[in-house]
Amino acid sequence: TVADHKGVKQGRLRIAAVTTTQFFMPRLLGPFCAEYPGVDVALEVLNRDRVLERLARNQDDLYIMGVPPQDWEIEYEPFLPNELVVLAAIDHPLVAARPIPLQALANEPFIARERGSGTRLTTEQALAAQGLAMRVRMELGSNEAIKQAVAGGLGVAVLSRSTLGPDLRAQGLALLDVEGFPIRRHWYVVRLKDKPLSVVAQTFLAFLRSHIAWLQRCTVGPDERCSSPADSAS
Ligand code: PGA
Repeated sequence: TVADHKGVKQGRLRIAAVTTTQFFMPRLLGPFCAEYPGVDVALEVLNRDRVLERLARNQDDLYIMGVPPQDWEIEYEPFLPNELVVLAAIDHPLVAARPIPLQALANEPFIARERGSGTRLTTEQALAAQGLAMRVRMELGSNEAIKQAVAGGLGVAVLSRSTLGPDLRAQGLALLDVEGFPIRRHWYVVRLKDKPLSVVAQTFLAFLRSHIAWLQRCTVGPDERCSSPADSAS
């Protein structure tokens, strides 16, 4: 049950967020829970298709994703930039080339997210728009595992900048300057149109909106790092 007694918010908050937001959504919950200790938060971290399944079944209050579905009875609000970049091992021959034609990228072996991933979908659409397709050498269900495989020289990858962390060189990685990249998108907070938001969900949404500047610093990478949200709540 949700109660708002003397300004003390209590109740359960359910959020489903796509895998790629694992680098900032859990970080945001720390200060939120510190401010609202009566709120019990359940965060599901799944790929886009699994998040859409939960949305279709009305299982959560809010959903966080990069590609809201078309023609659903939903409301969505962009809250952060989400850029997709091309990653290669630091000693990859294309690191020195620029700009790299998309066709040349399509000739490289890819380390790709699984089908059902929003990152995978966006990458396939960007290539398909030029009549190209990804040559998938390996599929991995984890952004972190993809970075390791790329650093190991298995292939190139397209990932959200949110996944990169502060120091690419130290991770054995470099960005490739490919035509059409970065792909500039947003992160969206999504909800069902006909579902009234609980007090707790409204409180979280307001908290999210007031921490945009801090979230932006968490997700710009690779040269920035997260500080305490208290430093920059705006
Ligand atoms: P993903 O989603 O983690 O399933 O790839 C990212 C996105 O929706 O942009």
